[in-house]
Amino acid sequence: MLKIAITGPDGLIGSRIIELLKNAFHILSISHNDLDITDKNQVSDKINALDFDFLLHLAGYTSVDGAEKEKNLAYKINVEGTKHIFEAVENRNKKMIYISTDFVFDGKNPPFFEDSVPNPLGYYGLTKYEGEKIVKDKAMIVRISYPYGNPTSQKPDFVTRLKQLLEKGQELKMMQDASITPTLIDDIAKALKYLIANYKPEVYHIVGSQSLSPFEAGMLIAKKFNMNEDLIKPISFAKYETGKAPRPQFSEIKSKKNDFQEMRGFVVKT
Ligand SMILES: NC(=O)c1ccc[n+]([C@@H]2O[C@H](COP(=O)([O-])OP(=O)(O)OC[C@H]3O[C@@H](n4cnc5c(N)ncnc54)[C@H](OP(=O)(O)O)[C@@H]3O)[C@@H](O)[C@H]2O)c1
Repeated sequence: MLKIAITGPDGLIGSRIIELLKNAFHILSISHNDLDITDKNQVSDKINALDFDFLLHLAGYTSVDGAEKEKNLAYKINVEGTKHIFEAVENRNKKMIYISTDFVFDGKNPPFFEDSVPNPLGYYGLTKYEGEKIVKDKAMIVRISYPYGNPTSQKPDFVTRLKQLLEKGQELKMMQDASITPTLIDDIAKALKYLIANYKPEVYHIVGSQSLSPFEAGMLIAKKFNMNEDLIKPISFAKYETGKAPRPQFSEIKSKKNDFQEMRGFVVKT
């Protein structure tokens, strides 16, 4: 059985991926408590002592708005941390998959494919793109987008977060003139299983098959959970973005290369 080391195993995506793939692979979790990826020596000691075949690098600084205020920390984790992990994995002659994001694109001329040119607008996207440059052509880069489908995660996905706010009766302003591409984490896990078996140091987009506006997504969530749809109010991208991190307006992300895993549209699960 292949041995897969995973950084960020307790996060939103990592915890669900482990649940789904734990019977297919021997999983070696490297949690934040075991290792701070910003510490180069700690990383090389840990990776040198580990018996693994692949490393799936999910650990990251993931707050889009937070990154604008904590630039130093975001850079240390997403750029330097990725460099430490990559160098240690390369020294061992092992394979690595780096998980990246649709936020590397500027959202100006959709759709965005694997060979579209990144141009991140905010600092989070910039650090993730810098991380991509470190591993480019030497490790696999898998870009994902708006992952959901892990309702029991410590860090709730956007569907659960919206549901919780609606339950409290909170009014939500959601963008009508923007698009997102939600991706079910179950489909990401299945695609990763294939990609591990068919490894190439290339870029892949593993994303849902439907792009929609956050407003439409909010209405679907309210309907699915029988919540008050009137709490969802439309807002323009320009208004929403005021005071927040710059972000892609039309994050319609697609794949030219995924002919191996069927990706679902936005299926809100109860
Ligand atoms: N969620 C999204 O919308 C999204 C979209 C596209 C791509 N991605 C990418 O997917 C990956 C996983 O995202 P996620 O949503 O699962 O993130 P998450 O829930 O925030 O989990 C990130 C994990 O990284 C760990 N971590 C943070 N700093 C660390 C450090 N210095 N050393 C070691 N571990 C550290 C965190 O541990 P602590 O909690 O203990 O700090 C946490 O377990 C990230 O690379 C992210 O950029 C996410």
